[in-house]
Amino acid sequence: MLNCQKDLFSLDSNITYLNCAYKAPLLKKGEKELLKAIENERNPFKLKANNYFEITEKIRNKFSNIIGSHSNEIAILPSTSYGFGNVFNNIKINGSHAITIENEFPSGYFAIKNWCAKNSIYLRTIKRANLSAKEWNKKIIDSINVKTNIVLLSSIHWMNGTKIMLKEIGDKCKKVGAYFIVDGTQSVGASQMDVKKLNIDALICAGYKWLFGPYSMALGYFSKKFHNGTPIEESWMNRTNALDFSNLTNYDPNYKPMAGRYNVGETTNFLLSPIMLNGLKQINKWGVNNIEKYCKKLANIIISELRPLNIKFEEKEFFNSHLFSLGLPKNINAVEFKRKLDENHIFLSLRGNSIRVSINVFNDENDIERLISVVKSSL
Ligand SMILES: Cc1ncc(COP(=O)(O)O)c(C=O)c1O
Repeated sequence: MLNCQKDLFSLDSNITYLNCAYKAPLLKKGEKELLKAIENERNPFKLKANNYFEITEKIRNKFSNIIGSHSNEIAILPSTSYGFGNVFNNIKINGSHAITIENEFPSGYFAIKNWCAKNSIYLRTIKRANLSAKEWNKKIIDSINVKTNIVLLSSIHWMNGTKIMLKEIGDKCKKVGAYFIVDGTQSVGASQMDVKKLNIDALICAGYKWLFGPYSMALGYFSKKFHNGTPIEESWMNRTNALDFSNLTNYDPNYKPMAGRYNVGETTNFLLSPIMLNGLKQINKWGVNNIEKYCKKLANIIISELRPLNIKFEEKEFFNSHLFSLGLPKNINAVEFKRKLDENHIFLSLRGNSIRVSINVFNDENDIERLISVVKSSL
């Protein structure tokens, strides 16, 4: 079992940060790597052609280890919206409707909505309303049929952490020939993910949350359905002759293999890439299963203390320990409650009506006790 990893971060010691779903704190080592990268900017004459590509390949490799893919299936992106731009630029029409879920994150939602509008495909949003998580998941699975062109959803619900039955949905998509597109931003890095086992066709993740990367860097997995696709931009870096700087205008018609064509231009991002790589290395070192266990240990304290006081949690099978919501009694105003947390220097997010708690390895039992104590004093 991992111990608390707070020492690897520079979080303000007077606060409780239960908001990795908002933005991860910078690892101390990432800060050092950034400073080194800034120093490198002083003397560009030291930069060799291969330095433009090395770090990119390392990032692709470390991310591929986390999601069970090949590194050539990974692209480096500036945002999830950019990743979805590439995905939807390459989806073929083979059905009459597409599916997403209620309150899907806007970057994915608008990508599928606009694609559907452009191609006269009906977009069905599967609402949860008052359904249990199990019933809602069943409704999603049952709605997929031979007329389904695409299913796009987040790997867990980004507002309240409800688990989505990715395996069953992926299997059904495969069976009926639908694309399965997943926004993994709020779980990849904190919860195990295997894109092949889940039959995911494209997985897009922002880097600045559970992957401990910088803002403005995201990562995407593109399965073989996309390996001959057309990227939304034409970067010289994505051509197979890119390393040959003196020969670039001997225009090379070939893209780099597999997902290499979807890498954003100026992929190297000399200042941000070292932070991204460091985050991914650290996650590989901790092990996602150990991160999961650690978060579970802390979340269990919250559940065992607060459930008897009538605070509601998602049912066990659909509960995520690293991101979940506190179901407060109706008489407690969520905005007021959040204000009270702020006053007590406890930071988390309100998303819709959900008091969203997110936990990672920099949190400890003291953080958890502080949250519990504010909840108890609000009842
Ligand atoms: C599920 C999810 N996807 C994506 C993002 C970020 O989107 P983008 O990279 O397009 O800014 C967030 C940010 O909160 C998110 O929660």
